[in-house]
Amino acid sequence: MLDVAFSKPVPPKAGAVALLLAEEEQLAGVAAALDQAAGGAIARALEVAGFKGHKGKNIMLYAPAPGLGRVVVQGLGKRADLSALTLEEAGGSIATALSAEPQAVILADSLGAQDAAHLALGAVLRSYRFDRYRTKEKAEDKPKLAAISLQVPELTKARAAFAPLKATAEGIFLTRDLVTEPANILTPAEMAERCKKLTALGLKVEVLGPKELAKLGFGAMLGVSQGSVQEPRMVVMQWNGTGARRTKKPVCFVGKGVTFDTGGISIKPAAGMEDMKWDMAGAGAVVGLMATLAGRKAKVDAVGIVGLVENMPSGTAQRPGDVVTSYSGQTIEVLNTDAEGRLVLADLLWYAQEKFDPAFMVNLATLTGAIIVALGQEHGGMFSNDDDLSQKLLAAGLTTGEKLWRMPLGDAYDRSLKSDIADMKNIAGRYGSAVVAAQFIQRFVNGKPWAHLDIAGMVWSSKDAPCVPKGATAYGLRLLDRLVRDHYEG
Ligand code: BES
Ligand code: MN
Ligand code: ZN
Repeated sequence: MLDVAFSKPVPPKAGAVALLLAEEEQLAGVAAALDQAAGGAIARALEVAGFKGHKGKNIMLYAPAPGLGRVVVQGLGKRADLSALTLEEAGGSIATALSAEPQAVILADSLGAQDAAHLALGAVLRSYRFDRYRTKEKAEDKPKLAAISLQVPELTKARAAFAPLKATAEGIFLTRDLVTEPANILTPAEMAERCKKLTALGLKVEVLGPKELAKLGFGAMLGVSQGSVQEPRMVVMQWNGTGARRTKKPVCFVGKGVTFDTGGISIKPAAGMEDMKWDMAGAGAVVGLMATLAGRKAKVDAVGIVGLVENMPSGTAQRPGDVVTSYSGQTIEVLNTDAEGRLVLADLLWYAQEKFDPAFMVNLATLTGAIIVALGQEHGGMFSNDDDLSQKLLAAGLTTGEKLWRMPLGDAYDRSLKSDIADMKNIAGRYGSAVVAAQFIQRFVNGKPWAHLDIAGMVWSSKDAPCVPKGATAYGLRLLDRLVRDHYEG
């Protein structure tokens, strides 16, 4: 991970430097001093380029004075409009602009401690790279930026502000790693092993295998898993951050962890099936979130539960038409083995309520292609039985940039799940199928405030964004970390 340090404002004499310029402002503070030392070269370049400090824009100067390397001037937009998000994006752009430099100094003397910390976070998040399987890349082809130092007036405050954000970044990197790993490596057992390692952060981690799950009666989840040679796992992670002996009900996060989704006997078309290695991204975000809460010692009691299975076709696979008995006791006619995520969630949610009596539950799942048709790759779909929880989630989405859009629920959708021979079937018609999927899940919600986030369009990106390189986004983690921070700590 990119190393972040904070230092006192002093004009740098050498190396790579980033300057910040807000709209309608002139170079000031250390930036102005640096310009002076460079004989006005920076101001002249800004003039020639017509650079006004617009948000998302930057210009690059090379060696404007002896000793200096690349100097990037990053636009911030209007100072009055600055937010955590715009600062993170500025940090991300700087990290990209200076990726060929081993280290860089960022002149952030015009920023408060919290703002500087968010700028640093953006640079860290943008510098993520999954390098595990590149054995032949030459060193000169790799991005080099390994350390940044931000010059800020309030050193101690900035360090304190950055500490929890660093824990968030570590959680995000864990999630991105899990989501990026191919399915031959990241089997349910392997993912459970990686969860187990989080005990080092102070999390309590329990792993349940096929025997325990069968004994509990997890018929819906085990039906999905039965076609695969890979054993299923359920992982329960607990963070006790209040120190109290559980006076308050814990908050609870539940993730769909299908490590590969072929569709099973209702098999998917070949084209694009490789994407289904990231059908565990809901679980991936829950694992990263729990690591984050523990990493930043959040004052909350939280439970994270993930159901890890592989959905394969084989001689032992579940057939269309099979009836399974879920942990709740309700029976399900599995008319389409590709509608498997809801089967996994059904057992997890019931278990979460029975075992932990949570204050609320939020589940994350790459559940339907239909939510991508509805919302594209801009918003996750939110379905909820609780207006208060919904409002809080929507707000957290806006502050973190992990946006949500609330979708409807209703009896008419629910009725479409009526089965001829069991309590329900797992699919209905083609129309509104993201809503019907949510409706299915709601049948396993037993009176608790609950939100289902269908994040199928959000967890993998085909293009770079300011703080998210293309690939695994870890969508959902920051959103829920923010939800906890703003409403459930202390
Ligand atoms: N994992 C898929 C949903 C998905 C599709 C995620 C594309 C990301 C990209 C899920 O298990 C699935 O197959 N859903 C089906 C449900 C259908 C059979 C009712 C779908 O969306 O087609
Ligand atoms: Mn599927
Ligand atoms: Zn799936």
